[in-house]
Amino acid sequence: MCGIVGYLGPRQPKDVLVSGLRALEYRGYDSSGVAILDQGKLKRVRAQGKLIHLVEKLKNENFDGHLGIGHTRWATHGKPSERNAHPHCVGGISIVHNGIIENYAELKLNLLKGGAVFESETDSELVAHLIHNEVKSTQDLLQAVLKILPLLKGAFSIVTVWEEQPETLVAFKNGPPLIVGFGTDEFVVASDLQAILPYTNKIVYLDDFQVAYIHQSQFQLLDQKGHTLEFQTASIDWNSEQAQKGGFDHYMLKEIFEQPRAVANAILPHLDTEKFCLNLNSLKQSWTGAFKDIDLTQVERVLVVACGTSYYAGMLAKYWIESKVRIPVEVDIASEFRYRNPVLFLKTLTLVISQSGETADTLAALRLVKESGGPILSICNVPNSSIDREAHCRWYMNAGVEIGVASTKAFTATMALLYVFSLALAKIKMKLSSEQEQEAVKAILGMPSHMETVLAFDSFFAEVAHILTAVRGFLYMGRGIHYPIALEGALKLKELAYRHAEGYAAGEMKHGPLALIDSDMLVIMLAASDELYEKTISNLEEAKTRGAKIVSLGTGENEHLKSLSEHYLALPKVYQDLYPLVEVIPLQLLAYHVAVTLGNDVDQPRNLAKSVTVE
Ligand code: F6R
Repeated sequence: MCGIVGYLGPRQPKDVLVSGLRALEYRGYDSSGVAILDQGKLKRVRAQGKLIHLVEKLKNENFDGHLGIGHTRWATHGKPSERNAHPHCVGGISIVHNGIIENYAELKLNLLKGGAVFESETDSELVAHLIHNEVKSTQDLLQAVLKILPLLKGAFSIVTVWEEQPETLVAFKNGPPLIVGFGTDEFVVASDLQAILPYTNKIVYLDDFQVAYIHQSQFQLLDQKGHTLEFQTASIDWNSEQAQKGGFDHYMLKEIFEQPRAVANAILPHLDTEKFCLNLNSLKQSWTGAFKDIDLTQVERVLVVACGTSYYAGMLAKYWIESKVRIPVEVDIASEFRYRNPVLFLKTLTLVISQSGETADTLAALRLVKESGGPILSICNVPNSSIDREAHCRWYMNAGVEIGVASTKAFTATMALLYVFSLALAKIKMKLSSEQEQEAVKAILGMPSHMETVLAFDSFFAEVAHILTAVRGFLYMGRGIHYPIALEGALKLKELAYRHAEGYAAGEMKHGPLALIDSDMLVIMLAASDELYEKTISNLEEAKTRGAKIVSLGTGENEHLKSLSEHYLALPKVYQDLYPLVEVIPLQLLAYHVAVTLGNDVDQPRNLAKSVTVE
């Protein structure tokens, strides 16, 4: 989605804005631009396509002012073009906007009637017109913003400057995130921490309908009526080095390799590593608000809501919680859940999963559950993100910054957390013996080193990727806990390699998809040795007999499986429940190498954005 950066301070705004926009590239965009003060006027430079084109245009531009705003645009209203790129400028006002102004048609009509001339096809430009109309009478940017804020409907985060007030920057939002970073005598405002961290880790997240007023070196937080609000800065312990490629060709590959550490960092706060047992404090004692004294023995149902890869991780919660805790678990796609009038019970504990913590549908689902009054536990990677702030209890993936648009380490960290959560709930509900607890805790603690060993498939996939690029279709299959991994494997290939791929529950093949199978179809079979192994092998044989080429993932040296497969990948023997954590890694590597071989942009696949802040 779009990215915003604003700067007020002693440095060259051009440098801060360009480095900020570079840090936001991973969110996905199709054009970019900046407006920076120079000789008392806002000078705007914009370019379609990659940031490099903007940088090229800015090479010979100098600015003497210390105020500027910048934007990476991901087109919603109006095609990707320089004309539609932000900032939008009207008579000395300049704005950058993320989100969608839902009542733009009506607002634009009124402006047109008043004689406004629009130069772009965007919904965003009208905000510049509205503010411009107001500053004519208020002669003050903040007052103008407070006047127009009630007119805007939809999702927006906006930063605006006015050349008549060269030391003022105003930011406001409803929906997409906006963060103010407090440096020494300087402020960086951005839609994402990554753009702020090189300058400061002291931040304030704006809440909806709050207005940040930065004037000279003062900061004021206001509500939409203009009343001053108290605020506290938070300190974020991520650093900007974590957001570098660290010697890898792509962020995604780096993040795949970071997974053993990410999983360890996710689970350690919830475990006692000396006694090999669960540390229940994180679940029992960290609830807030109405659920401060929650009695988790009363939970009768678990609901999981998320989107995309986070949803697939959430699917595993159903297998693990139902088998260990023996209560029903429902897993829902947030965009479906929010519009289907779901039945919500008070004794339902809801898990809301989101790497970014900002996905619009997931946030809306959280708010819907909140209205019903039930307890909500969030699992996020970005601390202080909207979902993290609005939940009643917060768990963290602790995976570190995830830059690659295709989620990898957040997926494995989430699975590990959900496993620990299922054990913790089982223990609280007296469904887990101490022996079972010790065995499972030891097993999950051993997973990072097993995950290290499967990273070795990197060179295998680098070698065979050119063969895989010729394949017409990919079918990923698995049963039980392997089924969500089949879905995730197929998603990774779709989003990176732009190849058709499907994930299927292997037992479903006879109900239709078997008709797809011929010698142009590659079947990727997840066949680790567990109680469903024999059934999985029969499904594999059905596909093989019909001519499919097989890549199989099994446990250890399995001669039979090898003999049925074109390629056999031996996974280490791990605790049965935990195979998903090792078997997804080869699938990520497969998608990565096929995409690289095809020359695709692995870190920023076409049409996709990292943080989906509009529905
Ligand atoms: C796929 C991917 C997406 C996200 C989805 C939800 O690789 O990354 O499917 O998982 O957009 O994002 P979060 O977890 O930030 O809510």
